[in-house]
Amino acid sequence: MKGIVLAGGSGTRLFPLTISVSKQLLPVYDKPMIFYPISVLMLAGIKEILIITTPHDKALFEKLLGDGSYLGCSFEYAVQEAPNGLAEAFIIGADFIGHDKVALVLGDNIFYGNGLSKMLQSNNDVVGGAIFAYPVRDPERFGVVAFDKNHKALSIEEKPKHPKSNYAVPGLYFYDNRVVEIARSVQASERGEKEITAVNKAYLDLGELQVGVMSRGMSWFDTGTVDSLDDATEFIRVIQHNQSMMIGCLEEIAYRMDWISYDDLKTSASRYGKGAYAAYINSL
Ligand code: G1P
Repeated sequence: MKGIVLAGGSGTRLFPLTISVSKQLLPVYDKPMIFYPISVLMLAGIKEILIITTPHDKALFEKLLGDGSYLGCSFEYAVQEAPNGLAEAFIIGADFIGHDKVALVLGDNIFYGNGLSKMLQSNNDVVGGAIFAYPVRDPERFGVVAFDKNHKALSIEEKPKHPKSNYAVPGLYFYDNRVVEIARSVQASERGEKEITAVNKAYLDLGELQVGVMSRGMSWFDTGTVDSLDDATEFIRVIQHNQSMMIGCLEEIAYRMDWISYDDLKTSASRYGKGAYAAYINSL
């Protein structure tokens, strides 16, 4: 399975923070935001990752993340010229995806919790589509999925004014190869975007959309607003301080996945100077 991180968008809800720099490069506590979604793909067992950025920010992401070889991974880069919607990721990434299945994670989504790796890895050979549902206070900000009483998904809507449930759809999606054709056939919505929700609806209409409910033990943050960004930062800080473990340390994940050796791990710390991130890698 291939993976795509979508780190485009204009980040207008975070202005002035994001006038000159991409949202996904902003810090979430001690790491750039994009480390967290990349870590999610890595925990799913995905090593071939396409990072889609704005034209303006591509060079900055390349400087930060390189070709991924130091993680035993392969990182490629592509550009989304304008914020034409999340589903465009599969059109931009069509050659990269080739004949494989693909996971998409949004560059501003952070996941943490017990059983996360297992949950992710259970989807890496998906047939159809697999998405998640997460109970929130403000579902109208998100894609919203509603269930019948047997927990079968009934409907999925993008930012509905009157949500049929309080289950938001987080920005983490697993699809079989048909997603490329489905994304091509999706019409732009009223706000002019190829919506990921339209892709999910296509799989739902085919009867091939699995929706896993994320339970209490799971935490999810969409860091698209100043408050949610601040919440995520505080959350990462508190968990890391209590547990003396890092969330989203890419080198640690690569090492624990057995993609790099102990010597590679030691060498990799040298990329990070004298800061706490390098000290953490050395402490492993
Ligand atoms: C996007 C999707 C939405 C999803 C959300 C998760 O919204 O369109 O369906 O629930 O990501 O973060 P955006 O945050 O881009 O407005």
